[in-house]
Amino acid sequence: MNLRRLRLNGNLRDLVRENYLTKNDLIMPVFIKEGLEGKNEIKSMPGIYQYGEKEFLDEIAECIELGIKAVILFGIPKLKDSCGSDALDEEGLIARSVRAAKEAFGDKIAIITDLCFCEFTDHGHCGIINPKLKTVDNAATLEISVKQALVHAKAGADMIAPSGMMDGIIKALRSGLDKNGFSHIPIMSYSTKFASAFYGPFRDAAESAPVESEYLPKNRKTYQMDIANSREALLESIIDENEGADILMVKPALAFMDIIKEVKQNTLKPLCVYNVSGEYSMVKAAEMNGWMNYETLMMEILTSFKRAGADMIITYHSKDAARILG
Ligand code: PBG
Repeated sequence: MNLRRLRLNGNLRDLVRENYLTKNDLIMPVFIKEGLEGKNEIKSMPGIYQYGEKEFLDEIAECIELGIKAVILFGIPKLKDSCGSDALDEEGLIARSVRAAKEAFGDKIAIITDLCFCEFTDHGHCGIINPKLKTVDNAATLEISVKQALVHAKAGADMIAPSGMMDGIIKALRSGLDKNGFSHIPIMSYSTKFASAFYGPFRDAAESAPVESEYLPKNRKTYQMDIANSREALLESIIDENEGADILMVKPALAFMDIIKEVKQNTLKPLCVYNVSGEYSMVKAAEMNGWMNYETLMMEILTSFKRAGADMIITYHSKDAARILG
């Protein structure tokens, strides 16, 4: 058998290529920091910035210019408290930002909102803490999550993406949205989310690292998944699909290709993967040290997500990839 004869000629090689990355696959994360004027580069994520409340609009305009179809917004409020009040306020940072983005850009780009509390709480955990249980109080967090979803929807968010790994959150959000006139707003669930060291740089970017206390550890292991488990990973996504999630997600992506493939084979829902902060930072570090070619490495990784089964990719490389895709 001569398998190589279709690789000798570039045109023929193109004819048999199975998977493509396109600009339709890319979602760019955008960090908005209350009170900031201008932009702050995130030390552990070269090329990625926290933006002020005016400047993040320029970043979105650039994404539109490059043909990117969606951004996902993360907010860093000035005032943090135990239950993340700013996230529940119709005049809060994310509500204001979504309104400003919709006003400026209309339907030129989809505005997705990350729904979580870790950036808004003083303890940095993803919901209300229950000191007795030494974890996040699931039921109490569901209640305020519905409130947060309504704040996002009223402000004009095109899609809501809960990332806190609370049990039953998709059912709770779907029913809350439906009852309040938002049955047309889709939910992209961070359905399979592992407790991962790859989130380290994001916690610098979003200023959301969990604080160690007598009640909870300095990690999210009491609610995010064990990286060693694949059956549970599939179960998490299936449950969210059954609760009404419109899009499922696997996060992180690079070390979890087997999970991406498995979830894809077991659902007919669209699948998103989150190419997280630490994955970006490793590639950037290799580039900055001259160890690997940034562009080819990035395109290889992003195309591999497509091969594994991703329909869309949240990635900090979105702008760089869109530039290459032209
Ligand atoms: C919030 C959230 C996190 C990320 C996205 N949403 C952090 C976390 O769970 O600690 C991580 C994204 C990244 O690392 O790029 N819950």
